[in-house]
Parts: sequence; structure tokens; C-alpha cells
Amino acid sequence: MEDQLNKLKEDTEQKIREIDDLDLLQELKVAVVGRKGELTLILRGLSSVPDEDRPRLGKMSNDIKQHLISLIDEKEARLKQETLSSRLMEERVDVTMPGQIPETGRIHPLRRTLRRMKEIFEGMGFSVKEGPEVETEYYNFEALNIPAQHASRDMWDSFYLGRDLLLRSHTSPVQVRVMEKEEPPLRVISIGKCFRRDAVDASHFWIFNQVEGFMVDEGVTFGDLKGVLLNFAREMFGKERRIKFIPSYFPFTEPSAEICVDCFVCKGKGCRSCGGSGWLEILGAGMINPAVYKWADGLREKPVYDPEKYTGFAFGIGVERIAMLANGIDDIRLFYENDSRFLKQF
Ligand code: DAH
Repeated sequence: MEDQLNKLKEDTEQKIREIDDLDLLQELKVAVVGRKGELTLILRGLSSVPDEDRPRLGKMSNDIKQHLISLIDEKEARLKQETLSSRLMEERVDVTMPGQIPETGRIHPLRRTLRRMKEIFEGMGFSVKEGPEVETEYYNFEALNIPAQHASRDMWDSFYLGRDLLLRSHTSPVQVRVMEKEEPPLRVISIGKCFRRDAVDASHFWIFNQVEGFMVDEGVTFGDLKGVLLNFAREMFGKERRIKFIPSYFPFTEPSAEICVDCFVCKGKGCRSCGGSGWLEILGAGMINPAVYKWADGLREKPVYDPEKYTGFAFGIGVERIAMLANGIDDIRLFYENDSRFLKQF
């Protein structure tokens, strides 16, 4: 029995040393000193040892039991402490780590430019009207004095949807749509998407935005057009801007002009942005062609737009072009790629 006790003592001590898990330690405790544990079983055998050995063996087993229990308790305390500190290590909050900053949205540079343009024209008394993006050939061309077979239709080649429907290639159709319904005086802008079958490059994309504007009243002159556009250029690009009119051709205006603003990148000296000319082309405009008034009156019994009484001007501005110039962006495609590295800069 003595050997048995000694062996159990040694084996258990060894196991206690090796165990590094609280549950296993608990199992060991039960297996050795529990009610049905090994030591308890050995103790039951005490009754069959000779009387003279019993007190000694009894004391010995008790000592071993106390010794093992205190070893196990000690180990248990140590394991608990270790688990706690490793959990503390794992769950530690490192206050020096950079925080997780949520991505904030922002207004797209095109949208911002659009809003600014709208603001500027509203400030000059223009109100906003809308027209459809899916347009008829009639409004996109015919009513703007661009008959079928006319060579200038090439300038506005679009995507056709069958029959006479197409994606509008400019916002000018809104002129006729508004004039059909409303009588002068009119001061209107219309903002929206346009579509063209253009080859894509740094300054052309198959979708883009235009601001169309027009004014019709008694006595509206080319001077009014100049004043409105000069004010727009100065509000948009800076108080000291100058503008220049270059004769041009649009079927729906007569006379027509292309309007340039002095290059604010190089202050007119000539640079890469303005191709060395010192001028940036920003829009097309002109006095509304009396032929357009005829189409606008087409549905009326009694014509309203008498060109002897009313005159008007119109202009069309590419929003992407303005946004590119205002923000120093050199490729129109960037607006549509949705690359946040680009968008974050504005
Ligand atoms: N619609 C023309 C275009 O897309 C731009 C334009 C030019 C509009 C002259 C006008 C205008 O109203 O008078 O190229």
C-alpha cells in the first residue's frame, strides 16, 4: 500500500506539472481525490492492513491527499491568472491605433457645377423647365430648323430607339416645347443629359450635360445676350473675365456665335489649357432664328411669336466643359468612372 501511495503521489505531481488547462486540472482532481478517486479507493483498503501499520498509513494517505489538493489549488490559481492576463492582452484596446473613419459622401463635381450654373442664371431671372431625354426627331431636329437630309444633322448624331424616337443630342428641343405652351416674355433655362454618337476621347463622351437658355421678349437684342453671357462668365470664372464672340453657324440661331472666355489659367498669355490661344471656347449662342418661332406656333390657331414684335436669344453650354475648366480637369471620362480617388478631390 505504501508503494501504491507513493506511486500515486509521484504520478499525480507529474501530471499537475504538465497540465495547462483548467478543465483537465479539474478532471484530474476528481480522478484522484474525488469520491470515487484513486486515493479514496486506496484509503478504503486501509481496513485490511495490519493494525500496527494502520495509523502510519492512515496519516500518510491523509498527508498525501492534503499535499495533492494544495498542489492542485495552487496550479488552479496560477492557470486562472494566466488565462486572465492572456485575455487582457488579447482584448486590450490600443488607443494609439488610427480610428476607423466612415467614408462620407460628397457632391459630385458635375452636380456642383450644375447647381452653380443654375444659381447664376436664376439670379438673372431665368426659371428652370424640363424636357424629355427620349425625344422625337421632330423636336430634336425639325422644329429647330434642321430638316431631314440637312448636313448639319451630323453634328448631333444620336442613338435611335426606332420609329422617330431618339435620345436627345442637345437640350435645344426644350426651346420649342416651352414656346409651344407659353407666351413671351420668357426667360428659361433647361438642364439635363444629352447623348451623342461621338467617338470617346478626353473631351468627348457619349453622355454629357447641357444647360440650354433662352429669352424672348419685345426688344431683346444681341447686346442682352452679351450682357447675360458676360455676367455668367464672370460669376463662374472670376470677376475680371472677358468674353469674345466668334461668328459660327447653328440652324436655329441667326446670327450664331461661339463664345470664348479669356484663359484664366494663363491670364490670356497662352498655355496648354487654351492651346496657346489665350481663349477658351465655352458655349454656342445666337439670336433665335424666326424659323423656330414658326415651328413653336405650329399648333396655335393664332400665331403668338411674331418676329416683327418679339426677338430672342438662345445659348447652349456644355456642363462638363465648364466643370473641367473650373476645376482644372483634363479628361471628361473621369466624371463617369466613379473612381473615389478622383471624386474625393472635390
Ligand atoms: N444645341 C447646341 C449644341 O448642342 C448648342 C447651342 C448653340 C444651343 C447655339 C443654342 C444655341 O441654344 O443658340 O451644340
